[in-house]
Amino acid sequence: MKLTAVDFKTEGFSFMTEKYDIKAILKNYASFENLPESVFQFLRDKSQEISIEEGETFFEEGQKDERLIIIKSGGFDAFRQSNQGNNVFLRRIPDGELVGLTSFFTNGLRSATLKAFMPTKVWALDFPTLKQYMFPEGQDGSLLSEALISLLSEKIRTKNKLIAESSPNGRKGKTKIAFFDTQPYMEAVFKKFCPEDQDYTFINARLSAETARLAEGHRAVCSFVNDTVDELTIDILRNLGIKLVALRCAGFNHVDLQACEARDVTVVRVPEYSPYAVAEHATAMLMCLNRRLHRAYNRVREGNFTLNELVGFDIHGKTVGIIGTGKIGKAFVKQMNGFGANVVAYDLYPDLSLSDAGLVQYLDLNDVFAKSDIISLHSPLTPETHHMIDGESISRMKKGVILVNTSRGGLIDTVALINGLKTKQIGGAALDVYEEESEYFFQDKSADVISDDTLARLLTFNNVLVTSHQAFLTEDALTQIAKITIENIQQYEHGYRGKDLKNLVVPPKS
Ligand code: NAI
Repeated sequence: MKLTAVDFKTEGFSFMTEKYDIKAILKNYASFENLPESVFQFLRDKSQEISIEEGETFFEEGQKDERLIIIKSGGFDAFRQSNQGNNVFLRRIPDGELVGLTSFFTNGLRSATLKAFMPTKVWALDFPTLKQYMFPEGQDGSLLSEALISLLSEKIRTKNKLIAESSPNGRKGKTKIAFFDTQPYMEAVFKKFCPEDQDYTFINARLSAETARLAEGHRAVCSFVNDTVDELTIDILRNLGIKLVALRCAGFNHVDLQACEARDVTVVRVPEYSPYAVAEHATAMLMCLNRRLHRAYNRVREGNFTLNELVGFDIHGKTVGIIGTGKIGKAFVKQMNGFGANVVAYDLYPDLSLSDAGLVQYLDLNDVFAKSDIISLHSPLTPETHHMIDGESISRMKKGVILVNTSRGGLIDTVALINGLKTKQIGGAALDVYEEESEYFFQDKSADVISDDTLARLLTFNNVLVTSHQAFLTEDALTQIAKITIENIQQYEHGYRGKDLKNLVVPPKS
């Protein structure tokens, strides 16, 4: 950091015009209007003039900096670091503004990084010098003044909150919702169900600290699975007067719920939309892979009508192992029963209604691995289930087993899967999810080189079928997502709060 300190008294003041004087600047604030000349003289005497070059960082976020700053000319862009390590723009601070007032009373660290957006000059006044002048020792009245000003700062902070809430964004009326990470198919469904009294803005970008300011002027944001709703993002949203994050998905691992709670930001979600959509996609992938439809489709289109290497097997009579028999797993159990398969399953909490009805036989996990011709994963990703399919579990499976994963990529150790495919221990893999999918899925990367070698290797196998996390993508599921999201927002608008909100997300107790 390059800073140039110039003694204010010797450099410049003698030939300084009124326009560049501390007094001229401060008199723009009504509170300074009636101060005697001696006060301005004190400020002139004790301040240091500092020049900052364009693009230069004046101070960094988190740095202790005990100086009151008056911007004489130029100005700063204020930034904060996002979790991704990027500098996120907060606001532009022009000349004539005072910086560091709150720190003066809290002795806090700098909450933002200031970077000069043009050649800039400031006056900097040390806090200890200022404090000594304002509250001389040995006078009880000084102590009271200090206490009152601290109290006032606290009140100002609270008042800012109230003002934000009663601003046009915070007033009741037409609800404006900023939808992040929207795709045309999602937009079309939401537009269909969008009530008259709500206004929607569809934003292609994912929600993160970098993009949160795009929500300015809205009362709520609607977020999807790959957004990053971390503390800084929430801070920015809160500063824009936004107090509702409506998730249009079931999962909420991308949201810092503690930070939301601390800032009085409500989070709602869509806990369930269509388990059938996901289960049917698992079945579709299984059938496509087993009957080699992906290869047959390409072959016929090129005029090759041969059947070599397209031999599949009947699902009927085979053993299908299902891991996780919750909403989606249960639907898949029923579909596999429709094929006449022998269905076995493992779940931490077996569903006795399924086993009592003769639809499934619950086994130990290792027995499911050992007995199944097809294994389909439907348990959530948790520390316990992370890489539940690894080299060891693969070695316990039947040779040539077909693996289906429409749950979460992290359930499978992909490198172990690739080894299993190479040794033919795994006969085929149908994957709607992948461990590192966020870099690729939902995006058009067709003009790029795939730099993820594991994904690239996976795509070389003709017995691997990959879809881009599309198992949920049916008209029915999207309709449910849109309806429930809108209901969630309307409930909030009608004044429901806390547990009265049907689909409130509460942070887990630590
Ligand atoms: P659910 O909560 O109804 O069912 C999950 C089941 O897994 C429960 O029965 C639970 O007891 C069981 N389970 C939990 N820990 C387990 C463990 N260690 N071993 C075995 N079983 C365990 O969830 P739902 O709605 O059926 O969703 C399942 C998963 O599907 C979700 O966690 C999500 O990851 C995935 N999903 C994928 C979608 C896609 O588009 N590909 C869309 C929606 C969900």
